[in-house]
Amino acid sequence: MTEEKRAHRPDLVLAGVPIWKGFLDEAAQRALLGEVRQVVRAAPMFSPRTPGGKPLSVQMTSAGRYGWYSDRQGYRYLPHHPSGTPWPEIPPEALDIWRTLFPAARAPDCCLVNLYRDGARMGLHQDRDEADFSQPVLSISLGDAALFRIGGPERRGPTRSVWLESGDVLALTGPSRLAFHGIDRIRFGSSRLLAGGGRLNLTLRVVD
Ligand code: SIN
Ligand code: FE2
Repeated sequence: MTEEKRAHRPDLVLAGVPIWKGFLDEAAQRALLGEVRQVVRAAPMFSPRTPGGKPLSVQMTSAGRYGWYSDRQGYRYLPHHPSGTPWPEIPPEALDIWRTLFPAARAPDCCLVNLYRDGARMGLHQDRDEADFSQPVLSISLGDAALFRIGGPERRGPTRSVWLESGDVLALTGPSRLAFHGIDRIRFGSSRLLAGGGRLNLTLRVVD
């Protein structure tokens, strides 16, 4: 194994999901946070509704060619923010992580930004609104710790849980690309990265 490969070996693999604990040190987390703030300035957070009409507890926005969206018409990608304004560029620090961990993958064209304030959670789901499941999904955690639940490709299968902390990175890739996953709860106020507390999650995906 080359030095480079060894350096990027995950710290643990849970249900086929590689997890890199503390991949970003505090300086890198702050640099990425600065870029995310610019994204939010250009494309403000909103609360999508499920196809059933319920607002999600998570606030969202996106960067890249596509942004993830949901309303009565279903889950899908939009080529611009719901206000009509273009999505900003994907944060370069996030792109860097993608290229470092997945040099052979196609370039991501969506960076979803999820904001979890106190009490927010995300139900068990698959990421399956994309065309090419051979491409990984990369997830970066910033701010408060989150209890991440991961299962297999069937909704009713067994699940495992792990706390994700600021600077942790994971990927849904290969056999775990279509694994069910969700966020059960946030340990609100456990990190001081975000003023006012909360957690940001960046998810990079290849959409087309
Ligand atoms: C997601 O699955 O879209 C988000 C997961 C997370 O917040 O870690
Ligand atoms: Fe997801």
